[in-house]
Amino acid sequence: MLNVCDQFPFVRSRLQDIYLDSAATTQRPEYVTKKMLALLESGVSNIGRSNYSSAERWKAVYSESREIVKSFISGTRGELIFTSGFTEGSNLLATSLSRFNLKPEDEVLYTPRDHDSFTKPWLKAAQAENSFKLLPVERDGYGAVSVDDIKNSITANTKIILVTHGHNVSGRLFELSQLRKSIRQDIWIVVDGAQSMSHTKIECDNWGVDAFIFSGHKMFASFGVGGLWLSTRLFDVLQPVKFGGGGIEGPQVFEPGTPNLDGVLSLKLAVEYLNEIGIAEIEDYLKSLTKYLYENILQIQHVTLKYDIRLHTLATMLPIVSFSVENISASEVGDVLSENGIALRTGTMCTGITTGNLDGLVRASLHIYNTKSDIDSLIEYLTFMKAY
Ligand SMILES: Cc1ncc(COP(=O)(O)O)c(C=O)c1O
Repeated sequence: MLNVCDQFPFVRSRLQDIYLDSAATTQRPEYVTKKMLALLESGVSNIGRSNYSSAERWKAVYSESREIVKSFISGTRGELIFTSGFTEGSNLLATSLSRFNLKPEDEVLYTPRDHDSFTKPWLKAAQAENSFKLLPVERDGYGAVSVDDIKNSITANTKIILVTHGHNVSGRLFELSQLRKSIRQDIWIVVDGAQSMSHTKIECDNWGVDAFIFSGHKMFASFGVGGLWLSTRLFDVLQPVKFGGGGIEGPQVFEPGTPNLDGVLSLKLAVEYLNEIGIAEIEDYLKSLTKYLYENILQIQHVTLKYDIRLHTLATMLPIVSFSVENISASEVGDVLSENGIALRTGTMCTGITTGNLDGLVRASLHIYNTKSDIDSLIEYLTFMKAY
């Protein structure tokens, strides 16, 4: 049984509400914040411009961080570009590939209810004159895309498949290991890894994907940093779309200007922290908490889940549960919970999943600093809400 609450000052000192919004951003463990502060206070230097000892030391931190993160996502047969976060990585890929690589007959498959930061850059690029075709994957009727759905949408012109690994509303994990085996080898698979990165083992090389995109702030690192990992074959053809001072070869070609050293350092420390606890242990703990949340929330008659949980198995479950409460708007539910010391997300959560329901849903999302007692508090207030 994982017991790491004490490693998070935020939780230890009960400075804020019971935090059930980790899908939006995670809290930071002391391991990351303290080590970061100590290193920054020991003196910083810009890298790639000078070769005095401190500059060399920070250059080493920067390149070591890249290797540590690559190894964490099992992506040694590819390159990792540091970005300002998921959204920048997603825009870089869509902008560059649509400008330099895709032809009007090429088809890109996407899933309409995926996160806007994943789909919008491609929707925008597809609007340009003589652009590629952006086509939706037909769903299986259960509110989640399957490998077969994707397979059935592929044609001779399919060039790219956009697939979300962990959905930020349904919490469902897509079984990436099955996809490459089922489709043509030349199709590029681009993965939204924003939600899965700190929850489950990431295996870019083994899965045979071509891009894996993530944000640091959802995995215990800082805001303003993230990564775009690319398979060697995709990296070799990708052209930069931003220019400035700095690297002239390798991934640094895509990182013009002074690098975000604070952010990259926080990524390295966050990965060290995740490795120290063990991703398998994190996964087991969060699956048992999620199961507990489902078991309890499903008992409340006036709470409805907005997607089909018949597709949810323990193997494909992230600690994210979205729901609505009968006759009470999502924002009102959020307000009542907030008044009672519970912080969670309400709204449309940047997806089209709540189409036709402008107020959106309520989402509870967990991480390793949550306990059954947090869930009990949520369940208690939700149960009480019938009389509200
Ligand atoms: C599934 C998914 N993809 C992409 C993003 C975008 O991440 P960011 O806002 O950090 O760029 C999010 C953030 O909520 C997300 O949940």
